[in-house]
Amino acid sequence: MVAAATATLSFASVPCRKHQLRRGANAFNAQQFSASSSHWQHSATLKWGLPRLRAAKRVIVARAGAGSYKVAILGAAGGIGEPLSLLIKMSPLVSALRLYDIANVNGVAADISHCNTPVEVAGFTGKEELAGSLAGADVVVIPAGVPRKPGMTLDDLFSVNAGIVKELVEAVADHAPGALIHIISNPVNSTVPVAAEVLKRKGAYDPRKLFGVTTLDVVRANAFVAATKGLPLADVDVPVVGGHAGTTILPLLSKARPKAAFTDAEVEELTARIQNAGTEVVEAKAGAGSETLSMAYAAARFLEASLRGLDGDADVYECAYVQSQVVPELPFFASRVKLGREGVEEVVGSELRGLSEYEARALEALKPQLKASIDKGIAYVQQQEEAALN
Ligand code: NAD
Ligand code: LMR
Repeated sequence: MVAAATATLSFASVPCRKHQLRRGANAFNAQQFSASSSHWQHSATLKWGLPRLRAAKRVIVARAGAGSYKVAILGAAGGIGEPLSLLIKMSPLVSALRLYDIANVNGVAADISHCNTPVEVAGFTGKEELAGSLAGADVVVIPAGVPRKPGMTLDDLFSVNAGIVKELVEAVADHAPGALIHIISNPVNSTVPVAAEVLKRKGAYDPRKLFGVTTLDVVRANAFVAATKGLPLADVDVPVVGGHAGTTILPLLSKARPKAAFTDAEVEELTARIQNAGTEVVEAKAGAGSETLSMAYAAARFLEASLRGLDGDADVYECAYVQSQVVPELPFFASRVKLGREGVEEVVGSELRGLSEYEARALEALKPQLKASIDKGIAYVQQQEEAALN
């Protein structure tokens, strides 16, 4: 049973540790799975150093072959939610998976619960069951909301999704106040500031615990660069900074590992393809939604990294859109962050030093758009508050 559960993680584990950064590897592959599973056994042993109750619980759980983290997915019956739930059911770091949606989630929960991995699965339907889905959650992942159709921008989703994120994050503040929150719902550039403002008003804001999930930009950048330069996928690591919409997505090809020489044309083509990859899929799906499978994969990778951070694993790095001071005029910015026991342990600003001319120009150019998206999210919560008072 343990072997079956951990073997499946070869898809979903993304060790990105300092030594790997140095040698340029950031893989999501079978080779590194063995490192991940041995990490799990190793870290369970280390838990003896923690306070008695926690240590005892962890060791028993580890012997039983199951993880110890509770994960809630809000929007679990959607295009992203379903495959993401399946991937999390395969994680050896997770003990319980709570699937919440406004509709159709009990079938998803029943279906996934038949997979013979140790993660316990439960479905929660409708607003009256939202609190139950959140109780005791260590991480809450939010893919709830509408996706794009051809011809729409991500900002066109704001009017619907801002309200959904507001409502769900209010519930997280009330029922899982210490949880890490992973926001997938678009437009991430604005929904994360919405979440931050909601949490501030609830007295539950810890900037280390709030993330906009931008991992898909990194996954795409790694895939496209590997294909263009003929590099082994497992070795490629491209940091992607800025935001998660169009030209606010800035892949730093000058910082890609392994070091590769890109022509100016390659830089322009790769950057444009990474920035427009969402639109590429929205158009290919022709009205049936946006990226779901690769997004589930990316969200599982980011969740795995976050859980490894919570678990005390050293040197876990991923790019994410977080509260940040690396660009002073942008209170939220995606860059590589170090993940630890409390969430963000460090925002790595050093990758913004020594940019190519192209990247430096693109960074300047994205600032007004990203700032406007952040301000829009903040203003939305203020307006809602004022409307509620009148
Ligand atoms: P979908 O329509 O297939 O699924 C959304 C789910 O959310 C549905 O099951 C729906 O019932 C549920 N939902 C709606 N309102 C809810 C509420 N108040 N509470 C709980 N659940 C609710 O959409 P999808 O393809 O899964 O995409 C979801 C979101 O993720 C979209 O906003 C999309 O743009 C975004 N997205 C983000 C990224 C990223 O990189 N961050 C990538 C792809 C998609
Ligand atoms: C993506 O990057 O694919 C998502 O943000 C969805 C979209 O509509 O672009």
